[in-house]
Amino acid sequence: MFVVVGVSGGIAAYKTVHLVRLLVKGGHDVHVVPTADAVRFVGLPTWESISRNAVTTSVHDDVARVRHVALGQAADLVIVAPATANTLAKMATGLADDLLGTTLLATTAPVVVAPAMHTEMWRHPATTANIATLRTRGVVIVGPEDGELTGGDSGPGRMSEPEVILDAALAAAERGSTADLAGLRVVVSAGGTREPIDPVRYIGNRSSGKQGIAVALAAADRGADVLLVAAHVDEGVLASASAHPHVNVVRAGTAAELQAAMGAAARTADVIVMAAAVADYRVAEVSESKLTKDAASGRGITLDLIENDDILAGLVRGRSDGQVVVGFAAETPAEGESLLERGRRKAARKGTDLLAVNEVGWSSGFESDVNEVTILTAGGEVVSTVQGTKRDVADGLWDAVISTREKNVTKR
Ligand code: CTP
Repeated sequence: MFVVVGVSGGIAAYKTVHLVRLLVKGGHDVHVVPTADAVRFVGLPTWESISRNAVTTSVHDDVARVRHVALGQAADLVIVAPATANTLAKMATGLADDLLGTTLLATTAPVVVAPAMHTEMWRHPATTANIATLRTRGVVIVGPEDGELTGGDSGPGRMSEPEVILDAALAAAERGSTADLAGLRVVVSAGGTREPIDPVRYIGNRSSGKQGIAVALAAADRGADVLLVAAHVDEGVLASASAHPHVNVVRAGTAAELQAAMGAAARTADVIVMAAAVADYRVAEVSESKLTKDAASGRGITLDLIENDDILAGLVRGRSDGQVVVGFAAETPAEGESLLERGRRKAARKGTDLLAVNEVGWSSGFESDVNEVTILTAGGEVVSTVQGTKRDVADGLWDAVISTREKNVTKR
């Protein structure tokens, strides 16, 4: 790998010498980019001899090779260690007044930073905000550790050990290289619809949207452009998706709104995933004013419900050439009937390219952070069974989508 190691001006730079050494030993082509301050702690001859590559701090050296962007463009991985409070602030703002700044702006490689500073600086709201900004851009933050600091004080602020930074960086590089959905336009629905009864009441369901949002995030992390059609969801979980640069969010409250949003988005989508829990029925006549007990005069109340369109069935009918349509099936199998049998019947009825079948119940499926699904083709063939966090299930689903797209191509 072509690895850029940015070094900013902190005493922990001496530990980065060992990190560079480990990277070189691992067979990587390492290019060190120290800031002007960093070379006051560890000089150029050390960086050059350890990395076995020329080192400069200036954008004005080696101009013929457009070094100020060439390093960032060539990088498979960028590590900044130590990252001082000042360097983190510059990164968060996108300042590019030195070679490290231009390199960071020119790269699309995974970026891993290892902050090192005094506890007060680490805890300052400005640093906290900068770290949050970098995280939303996908930057991996390693440490800092709690321990003894240079001034004899102690607390969080110590740079992580080189071995720890190396492990995190190699893991980030591996994840970053799986852009196997790059260029795909993906639409995912998530959450539960709510059908109004009157201005203050609705018929809803227990879906938190966690699984659908995980599907959207996994696709975005793997390079897709994602439109997330969010019904009623856990807002905290939704915030992590909204912050992703490749996820756009539109809101839909009722089944009818969801149908309109999905119909419009489907026209340009390569893959559609219906993870939303859509109400099968809506109230025939929504009351303009709040229903009162008097209206029912103590005799109970009956709501007339009419069936909503099956959005997924409509999307399958309108499916364009090469488009992959995926559904979810939430099942509570009856006695003597297997989940797979029920799933197969639904897969045949829905005609989706893939149907992810999961068991739900009073205490399983909803709101939880884990899940288990069996992915079926329309013909009822089991593609895979995935179990784990909702993110694991999402990644398993995308693996199945990729193999379906490959099969579609060979069929044509
Ligand atoms: N779905 C849909 N429109 C509806 C109901 C469901 O698009 N009106 C979609 C869901 O988003 C999901 C799939 O259909 O992807 C299966 O949903 P599920 O609730 O399991 O099945 P239903 O079609 O509602 O069938 P049943 O109620 O008989 O289980």
